[in-house]
Formats: sequence, structure tokens, C-alpha cells
Amino acid sequence: GRGITIPDLQRMRDEGRPIVMTTAYDAPTAWIADASGVDVLLIGDSVGNVCLGFENTLPVTLAMMAHHLEAVVRSRPRALVVVDMPYLSYHLGCEDAVRNAGGLVRLGAQGVKLEGGARRVPVIRALVDAEIPVMGHLGLTPQSLNRMGGYKVQGREAGAAVELLEDALRLQDAGCFSLVLEGVPAELAERVTQELSIPTIGIGAGAACSGQVLVFHDILGLIPTTPPKFVRTYMNGFEALREALARWGEDVRGGRFPGPQESYILPEPAREELRA
Ligand code: KIV
Ligand code: NA
Repeated sequence: GRGITIPDLQRMRDEGRPIVMTTAYDAPTAWIADASGVDVLLIGDSVGNVCLGFENTLPVTLAMMAHHLEAVVRSRPRALVVVDMPYLSYHLGCEDAVRNAGGLVRLGAQGVKLEGGARRVPVIRALVDAEIPVMGHLGLTPQSLNRMGGYKVQGREAGAAVELLEDALRLQDAGCFSLVLEGVPAELAERVTQELSIPTIGIGAGAACSGQVLVFHDILGLIPTTPPKFVRTYMNGFEALREALARWGEDVRGGRFPGPQESYILPEPAREELRA
């Protein structure tokens, strides 16, 4: 129908039109993001930190991803819907990964995203063979937190930059329709984007990528802690929402809410009965 498709993303990349992707985790975030005109809605496993109070993405389960995906899909967005495969949902063998990803497709996901380089090639091939479009994710991969020893920019060391470029080519060859590059020096992301024929989507990866992604709550300033360097915040959403809620609370405490406009009228016969 009128929705964005995977071939549309490839066309945008080929024509040099930047792809815009953000996260959505529920109906309101999907309504707002879709109405803003983004091309891709990602149900990110960042839902763990952003919405569920976890320290990182590792505790997020397939059931949690399914729950949030279903809420986004019910909003019938125009944007392409891509869902993250959570930690341990694609590490236990190809059959398990296809079953897990296929379940998300049955709930309405149009593609899945998973983290990692050359070692993910077999599972990506299995998913693509099962008609499941795959978005890769290289560089700072949050599910590798314990190995990386923190959220650090990747590909800075001599060997690491070449390795990331090779990983990107392997993922493209395995059949990925796009790659997220996260926390990668701009020059390296630019080189990867030049070498690939599929779109790259950057987050902390400079301006040369085929598109950009940021977490919804980061763009809107909804998280009260200082965001990472790569975030640009377009409003102080936390303060705007806090202030509006505080005004409502003051109206309740001051007897100004509800007023006649927010109240129901008792019709005359019933009113008469009550007086008696
Ligand atoms: O989980 C997420 O939100 C992501 C994007 C930031 C790429 O993976
Ligand atoms: Na993610």
C-alpha cells in the first residue's frame, strides 16, 4: 500500500536521499514518530534502558520485544517497521534464530536487526533464506557491553578499522538489506558507506551514512541525564512534560480541576428526584 518498503530504502540510498529512522516502543511514540514523517520505526532493544528501567539491553527478552512490537504495529504506521532481535535470541543456532525472528515477522515486523560482524553470517543467511529481511548492526554494539568493557567508540585502532570494513562487506554479502553503524569514527563510516551498495544508517557515525537513527527519547529530551556526544536534543521534553503535569496537579490542589467543562450534567428529572 502506501507504506515504506525495503526497496524504497534502497532507492533512497541510490538517489542520495537520507533515510530517517527513530525508535518507537508503544502506540504514542509510534503515532508521534510516524506523523513526523520518519522512514523507519525501530522497536529497539533500547526499550530495556529507555522504558523498562534496566541498566543495559542484556535483560531484554523476545517476549518483551514482541509486546512492544505489537503495540507499534497496531498503530498501522506508514514507516517501515524493524524490530531488534534481543540478546540470546539469535546466538543459539540458526533454527532457533529463524523461529524467533519468524515469530516477530508474524506479529508484523517487516525486518529484524541483529548485532555483530562476520560470526553472524550463518544466522543472517538462514534468516534471509526464510524470507526474513535483516538489518545488520556494527561498531558499538550494546549487547557486547561486557566484552567491550563499556560503551566505547569502535574501530579506532589500526586493525579494528579494517576489520569493521570487512565485517560490513561480509554482512552485505550475507544478504543484509541495510547496516546500522554505531559509535564509529566518521571517516570509517564514510569509507564503509562508499564500499557498500546497501544503505548505512549511522548513530554516532558521522554525516556520510545513507541515513541517521537516534533514540526517540533522546531527540525529545525526555531523559533527565546528560545524553552522549552523538545526540542532538530538539526540545527539553522532560521539562515541558513535567511543567504541564505540575500545573494540572496545582489545579487539582487549588480546586480548579475539574471545572464545568470537564464535568457531566445531571438531566432535570433525575435532578428533581435527588432534591426530594
Ligand atoms: O536499540 C536501539 O535503539 C538501537 C538503535 C539506537 C540503533 O539499536
Ligand atoms: Na538495539
